[in-house]
Amino acid sequence: MAFPTNRLRRLRKNENIRRLVRETHLSVDNLIYPIFVEDGVNIIKEIPSMPGIFRYSIDNLSKELDEVVELNIPAILLFGIPSHKDEIGSDTFNDEGIIQRAIRYIKQNYPQLYVITDVCFCEYTSHGHCGVLHNHDVDNDATLENTKKQVISHAKAGADMVAPSGMMDGVVKAIREALDSAGYYDIPIMSYSAKYASSYYGPFREAADSTPAFGDRRTYQMDIGNRLEALREVALDIEEGADIVMVKPALAYLDIIREIKDSFNIPLAAYNVSGEYSMIKAAGKLGWIDEKKVMLETITAIKRAGADIIITYFAKEIAKMIK
Ligand code: PBG
Ligand code: ZN
Repeated sequence: MAFPTNRLRRLRKNENIRRLVRETHLSVDNLIYPIFVEDGVNIIKEIPSMPGIFRYSIDNLSKELDEVVELNIPAILLFGIPSHKDEIGSDTFNDEGIIQRAIRYIKQNYPQLYVITDVCFCEYTSHGHCGVLHNHDVDNDATLENTKKQVISHAKAGADMVAPSGMMDGVVKAIREALDSAGYYDIPIMSYSAKYASSYYGPFREAADSTPAFGDRRTYQMDIGNRLEALREVALDIEEGADIVMVKPALAYLDIIREIKDSFNIPLAAYNVSGEYSMIKAAGKLGWIDEKKVMLETITAIKRAGADIIITYFAKEIAKMIK
């Protein structure tokens, strides 16, 4: 009888040996927690398709931030919901805008928290697209001009890092030049480099009130079937001065995460987006999956695929579980 000489099961015998040979470990150190801030007072509104995730007005933010600090989550990613929308999303570069006031409040009261701002326009435009419109499409270069104003305004308010998510060509270069010429050469750029035109953003658009009024985002976000184009996007962003690059969504794009990790030598973030969160929450609620275990398996997979940083609505739950 020819028994196997190599028995990989030896190293799976019990939890002690499994711990010793485990290759991927989750740590709170790599997590970024997204937060939605809405203009107004006394607002705490749960997002129906994202159980456990809320929109807060600034006066209620401490309810969320106390917990984030207590759990030792290093950074938050801020999204704003303004009271006033217009054609160009001018609240994004208003020094008294919702995000600017939120940043000042957070930096004053939670100086230890690292504040990253999402840099886009869709939550702020009346039409819900990610920039200035021209002939029913987003005008790239006109949008870049407003993006420069937006990041300067975020920097002035005290943002630690900016994260452009609009998929405009040349946005990293435009931001780097704007920040440097205003003296903010210390503020890093985390670029949403390979952001796909994904249907997984559905719940976010409800959360942030940013669904396009007509058409879709396929003239600026990437086609879901493309792999090589993601490498070109990342290469360009690095050339333009990105400090961190990102793949978004995460779960349906693990191959892209792995390939970028293997091809470039730069910190890589992955965004575990709203639809990925909602699917796990919904199936968990129905009792069809073990929600906590599927959550940990999913986040572990994203890390194993090569993500150094994970942006996730599960950040607080994960932090609690691995504490
Ligand atoms: C805005 C933006 C989106 C997300 C982050 N920034 C939505 C979009 O492009 O429509 C998605 C986040 C998520 O689904 O969790 N440009
Ligand atoms: Zn946008």
